[in-house]
Amino acid sequence: MTSEPIRFTDGAAYDRFMGVWSRLAGQEFLDWIAPEHGQRWLDVGCGNGAFTQMIVEQSEPFSIVGIDPSEAQLAFARQQPLLQSVDFVNGDAMALPFPEDAFDLAVMPLVIFFVPEPAQGLAEMVRVVAPGGTVAAYAWDMEGGGFPYQIVNETLSAVGRSAPNPPSAGSSRLDVLGDLWTTAGLNGIQSKAIDVERTFADFDDLWNTVLGGPSAGQTLATMNEEDVSRVRELLRARLQTAGSSPITLSGRAHAIRGTVPDR
Ligand SMILES: C[S@@+](CC[C@H](N)C(=O)[O-])C[C@H]1O[C@@H](n2cnc3c(N)ncnc32)[C@H](O)[C@@H]1O
Repeated sequence: MTSEPIRFTDGAAYDRFMGVWSRLAGQEFLDWIAPEHGQRWLDVGCGNGAFTQMIVEQSEPFSIVGIDPSEAQLAFARQQPLLQSVDFVNGDAMALPFPEDAFDLAVMPLVIFFVPEPAQGLAEMVRVVAPGGTVAAYAWDMEGGGFPYQIVNETLSAVGRSAPNPPSAGSSRLDVLGDLWTTAGLNGIQSKAIDVERTFADFDDLWNTVLGGPSAGQTLATMNEEDVSRVRELLRARLQTAGSSPITLSGRAHAIRGTVPDR
């Protein structure tokens, strides 16, 4: 296992690799939160704005701030016509540059496992959300095989290479999320699994989505042509796909929510 971090250096590549998944799972997450309209939102780890845009389109926020440490992701988000009303800030979940009670709702969609100290990131969300407000997150079940491209990562392992892993992969377990939310003192904690499927037109569609993206794409970019071809053909064999048949992959995420208590 490599210790190299997953790098988010290209918002468009992120969108090809993860955007579709993010919107599929994000929709179920947003429906589950069922937020009232007119709220002050904070989107922590907003990335290229995939989930932020769903909030804007569906939840009629009073205001919305997106924060992320990747300037490349933020640059992509800032270019989106529907996100012109969003305040995008470069920053870290573990030190949110906002005062207490500044928001009604804070979310971390597909982010908690990237935060080196998830408890600290959660404490920060609790601090900046007003009593009675919601703090919610969801993340791929990395340890339970829920990462949608797990088969790609396994294929890399089969040739002695590895895709980078998020630093806090274990934080996406339901029991760990439950402990985090409980320890943070949140009320009315609820959690659930989110299952999604994405169908690629054919093997090349899947392969080109992985190439150039974060995660396995980073490892493939460091390999020579012969080794990359070997991984590609091994993956094709594992998926047992003939040239032009569609391929469906699935992902499982864990979601959690709670309410900020009176202070
Ligand atoms: C998988 S993306 C999720 C993006 C977006 N929320 C979505 O649902 O598509 C993870 C994001 O977390 C961000 N990230 C990584 N470490 C972070 C940290 N310590 N604080 C806040 N965001 C972080 C990355 O820059 C990246 O944009």
